[in-house]
Amino acid sequence: MNHTVLTGDRPTGPLHLGHYFGTLANRVRLQELHRMYVLVADYQVITDRDVPGRIQHNITELLLDYLAIGLDPAKATIFQHSAVPELNQLLLPFLSLVSVAELKRNPTVKDEIAHSSQSAVSGLMFTYPVHQAADILFCKGTLVPVGKDQLPHVEVTRLVARRFNERYAPVFPLPEAMMGSAPLLKGLDGGKMSKSRGNAIALKATADETAAVIRAARTDADRHITYDPERRPEVANLLTLAGLCLGRAPEEIAEEIGDGGAARLKRLLTEAVNEFLHPMRKLRSSLDAADAREVLTAGNARARERAVLTLEEVRQAMGF
Ligand code: TRP
Repeated sequence: MNHTVLTGDRPTGPLHLGHYFGTLANRVRLQELHRMYVLVADYQVITDRDVPGRIQHNITELLLDYLAIGLDPAKATIFQHSAVPELNQLLLPFLSLVSVAELKRNPTVKDEIAHSSQSAVSGLMFTYPVHQAADILFCKGTLVPVGKDQLPHVEVTRLVARRFNERYAPVFPLPEAMMGSAPLLKGLDGGKMSKSRGNAIALKATADETAAVIRAARTDADRHITYDPERRPEVANLLTLAGLCLGRAPEEIAEEIGDGGAARLKRLLTEAVNEFLHPMRKLRSSLDAADAREVLTAGNARARERAVLTLEEVRQAMGF
């Protein structure tokens, strides 16, 4: 089956190993098989904060991360929200297809509101999932590789597509979410891996920064290393990460370390991560902001061409 794949990220900070094993590695595989779009979701940055912050800087960094992991701009169309105004024009008719009650019960939106630092919840917070439907439908996306938190948004997208097709004309395919198969990585303090919590290993971090984060990782008092996700989640998480980097089973690594304790585990992990990331970091250091800009300029033009066609089809179907 030939898919049109669309996925994306908010440019809010550097990508880390959780992103890599959760979804990025998968994208690199998918670009070989399918038509692929990767979205720099810059307008989505202002859903849970008041101002976009260092947006240009963050966009450049995200682009460099993409190129470093092996996304190939000749195979994947990499583009940004703010360069494709047709996405906003799709938002308006799409908003007419969903009810306020439906917007209000989106569990991911509820969760973001609970964790938001904004003084007031904006209209965008409730409507961005519909904008996200435009992200996916403008290219008639059929496959959306995402984490679990994004499933409600893919549901909204399917709802919008289905209702549009029923009300007007069969324009849109119903996209499927695709969840990664890699085990969920936690942060090195046992919580959710997140750049803002200081418990993540950024892909672009130096070898020394990586060593420092791993040195500070939480373990437990038992010196004998075993892989026991239930009772020893912190140690298991480090073993899982080492296993992913080395392409080995975490149980086997645990056995090898045995009585070597957390110190030996951390040494092994540091080496494994730094070795694994070395080629990406090397490639990244040969690229600069001009390369990022060039990729976006070409990707934006290609995405826009596609968006113009879909918008025209939508207007026709609606009788405008
Ligand atoms: N909401 C996604 C996130 O926060 C980013 C995103 C925007 C996205 N548009 C998308 C993901 C479309 C998949 C498909 O990470």
